[in-house]
Amino acid sequence: MKFFIDTANIDEISKAAAMGVLDGVTTNPSLAAKESLPYRELLTEICRIVPGPVSAEVLATDYKGMLAEAEQLCKIADNIVIKIPTISEGLRATKALSDDGIPVNATLVFSAMQALLVAKAGAAYVSPFVGRLDDISTDGMQLIEDIITMYHQYDYRTEVLVASVRHPMHVQQAALMGADVVTMPFKVIDQLIKHPLTDIGLEKFLADYKKAGKN
Ligand code: G3P
Repeated sequence: MKFFIDTANIDEISKAAAMGVLDGVTTNPSLAAKESLPYRELLTEICRIVPGPVSAEVLATDYKGMLAEAEQLCKIADNIVIKIPTISEGLRATKALSDDGIPVNATLVFSAMQALLVAKAGAAYVSPFVGRLDDISTDGMQLIEDIITMYHQYDYRTEVLVASVRHPMHVQQAALMGADVVTMPFKVIDQLIKHPLTDIGLEKFLADYKKAGKN
């Protein structure tokens, strides 16, 4: 399973990359807006740090505008993936870009039918937002299971990228379901390694060794 970090913050990306388990990055306009560097410069720096796929989202909401922005974003680096919102114009853009061999991450996906459409259009990734579904009392992870079942049924190659992840249980469930990728905030990546029994156990190992006068 691939691990992406969901942030545009260079410090967080560098820290996660140093952990040795980072495969890619997803950004969005809300995340970019929190940073001081302009989006293009941010993406250049992110692509320098992480060689894996880096999703860059278009701001246009019309077909032509999306294609024009995608063309500019692709010039930043070879590992840029174009993030396109799952609306009608976005579906057209997804099809056109995918036909041209440009990888698309179809974002803001909240239903199985949206996921089916973007797979038919050739998207490289589908990004269902599980946390935002949970927020409105809908089971976000059930959507992941449904999409995986559907894609297997028809052998779609679109990778299921679990997004809007809020806690380690989302990551665990995604792994059990066989999702291809999980993108998560730095906080969640950091939580994955932690267990109180590990800390207690380590403290005891070291204390026992010291008590025996072996230091
Ligand atoms: O990058 C898209 C997605 O992961 C956003 O997550 O936490 O804003 O719902 P969130």
